[in-house]
Amino acid sequence: MSNNVVLEACGLGKTYQDGQITVEVLKDVHLTLAVGELIAVIGASGVGKSTLLHLLGGLDQYTSGNVRIQGVEWSQQSEVERCRLRNEKVGFVYQLHHLLPEFNVLENVCMPLLIAGEKPLQAQEKAADILDKVGLSHRLRHRIGELSGGERQRTAIARALVKKPACVLADEPTGNLDQRTAEKVYDLFLELNRAYGTSLIMVTHDMRLAERLEKVYHIVDKKLERKK
Ligand SMILES: Nc1ncnc2c1ncn2[C@@H]1O[C@H](COP(=O)(O)OP(=O)(O)O)[C@@H](O)[C@H]1O
Ligand SMILES: [Mg+2]
Repeated sequence: MSNNVVLEACGLGKTYQDGQITVEVLKDVHLTLAVGELIAVIGASGVGKSTLLHLLGGLDQYTSGNVRIQGVEWSQQSEVERCRLRNEKVGFVYQLHHLLPEFNVLENVCMPLLIAGEKPLQAQEKAADILDKVGLSHRLRHRIGELSGGERQRTAIARALVKKPACVLADEPTGNLDQRTAEKVYDLFLELNRAYGTSLIMVTHDMRLAERLEKVYHIVDKKLERKK
């Protein structure tokens, strides 16, 4: 494996087992994500986009093949080690923000740093810095419930990027916003990833947004196909 590779999936497959019923969602998926590369994965609802992101990010277990993050295979790690690796190397952004409502904006963005053992003051400085970059300096002490949809997603983006992870995995990050807000948040998101040199895999069903990235893949017949 070259040092230039952040994430690599080889012959990846996932079958869900629900009692008597087995559902094969992904089959023989190959993907290489290089340092600083931004790629989009598109596909209709239910084709396995979220499943793919969960496998790539070590959140769910694959049934065949393997995924390596900076050369380390998820399935070879203990649960504790997987948690540590995720915290260190991966930033997640979801369609619904998944922020903690009982904490304010600054505290939410500090969380990944505190979990990694950073001192509170240092964590606050870093969090405030990235919140400034996403235009939320004036909202640091606001609870999540007091924010607009766009502000929540910008907070979620700040939280995903605050540790400057090797890669960000985003699952329809603007899917829940109105079109104008979605465009703005999306542009900001790409700009930040590029500025940080973070690799990005973005899942969407919006072809227009996907087209702005240099590489686009489709999930077709359980496999990943390069379209652009
Ligand atoms: N935990 C699960 N158990 C059984 N089937 C699941 C589970 N999660 C997802 N699926 C099925 O896998 C398929 C892909 O789901 P998903 O990855 O969420 O698709 P997408 O994100 O593209 O909409 C769907 O048919 C869904 O019903
Ligand atoms: Mg999904």
